[in-house]
Amino acid sequence: MNELKLGLLGLGTVGGGVLTLLERNGEAIASRAGTTIRVVAAAVRDAGKARPGADTVRLSTRIETVIDDPDVDVVVELMGGTDAARDAVERAIRAGKPVVTANKALIALHGRELFALAKEHGTTVSYEAAVAGGIPLIKALREGLTANRIHSIAGIINGTCNYILTEMSQTGAAFDAVLAEAQRLGYAEADPTFDVGGIDAAHKLTILASIAFGIPLSFDQVKTDGIESVTAEDLAYARELGYRIKPLAIARRQEKGVELRVHPTLVPERDLLANVNGVLNAVVVRADAASPTGYFGPGAGAEATASAVLADVVDLARRGTDAQMPALGQSADLVDSPRPLPIEEAVSAHYLRLRVADTPGVLNAISGALAEHGISIEAIVQKELPPPVSTTTVIILTQPVPERVAAAACAQIEALPAVSDSVHRIRVEHFDE
Ligand code: NAP
Ligand code: HSE
Repeated sequence: MNELKLGLLGLGTVGGGVLTLLERNGEAIASRAGTTIRVVAAAVRDAGKARPGADTVRLSTRIETVIDDPDVDVVVELMGGTDAARDAVERAIRAGKPVVTANKALIALHGRELFALAKEHGTTVSYEAAVAGGIPLIKALREGLTANRIHSIAGIINGTCNYILTEMSQTGAAFDAVLAEAQRLGYAEADPTFDVGGIDAAHKLTILASIAFGIPLSFDQVKTDGIESVTAEDLAYARELGYRIKPLAIARRQEKGVELRVHPTLVPERDLLANVNGVLNAVVVRADAASPTGYFGPGAGAEATASAVLADVVDLARRGTDAQMPALGQSADLVDSPRPLPIEEAVSAHYLRLRVADTPGVLNAISGALAEHGISIEAIVQKELPPPVSTTTVIILTQPVPERVAAAACAQIEALPAVSDSVHRIRVEHFDE
């Protein structure tokens, strides 16, 4: 198997995430890419900083050293900013090296020139990680929805702002304290006023609108309001009225053009976007054919963003080689391919509804049967039925257990003399935790 060698410009939150993912999933990624992928060199500002997982990476404080390194096949720009980053990306392009970047500011402000330069030099600039962190949104828009005429894109595309408003709203925490936490978790930009001032979301919206509507990158046309003016009072009043305040970015086609705006927005509490909390991002696309489609996932953070960076790298690895994307899932030689499990091994929580005789000790007998099978009860409710009926209904929510355990416990419960019917069982799942 060949090797694709990466030179990282920046080894901070996202660069560190790339190393972690390659370390953990490198074998599977290689199998899907048709080549092993290895970080061989990285540029940093401070060569003395501890860099876990980077023992075999050649570190340099000179960006050019990494770009010009003949060993480096792909330059991955993860340092941020638009000055040094732009020079670096141009240098890589002129050297004919493909570039992968997570830098939305760079693409929103200089994308046009960079893409043109890349075309001239027969190479590419990929930027999946620049918008909505780990959500494969650029691919969905450019490829999955390519047959559509898009009407609007609306969503939460700054994880830091969503995290701040969620924490303020749900825990009453103060703005500054939550922002500090978002910085500690690696969500915020180097200059966090880009996040809270709406600029980061405006950069991302600029990119999305250009892809969706074919308009030039128009950052200076985006109406941009930050979340700094949203108070705890506003969050409480909005809640009282049945709304949540969310940091939305909106691009909507009108007859005369495209609206482009980023601002805090009241969203009805039942709407999907009102229920997207913390660092999560979500985007709803309305189009003429497949509509609406929704995209949801972690909008920031080391590994989520690295996932998008490496998706671009794998695309590059596959390009121009014989490596085919496996038609179904993973390639045959992947060593840890899991096997499909029998249904008895599937794990779920359960809702159980039982008809029982209204006699003393019956609840103890039922909970005893569940306990014998190691099943914990999450909630239990008993519903009295009006006379002359002498049975009651008992509703139980269990903790997750394997299917065979739930089935065995139900069989034991059904055998109890006080239980008059079969147990009605519905599985309970929590996939958004
Ligand atoms: P970060 O943690 O601040 O890391 C930046 C890295 O770049 C550091 O390793 C830094 O070196 C290095 N660096 C900066 N300027 C340099 C220079 N002039 N020469 C050499 N090295 C330089 O930033 P990050 O959060 O990883 O973000 C990187 C990029 O990804 C940004 O464009 C950001 O917008 C984007 N992004 C971030 C996230 C996220 O969740 N964090 C998500 C999506 C996209 P030192 O380590 O020595 O300081
Ligand atoms: N600072 C950005 C955010 C990082 O919070 O969404 C992801 O682009």
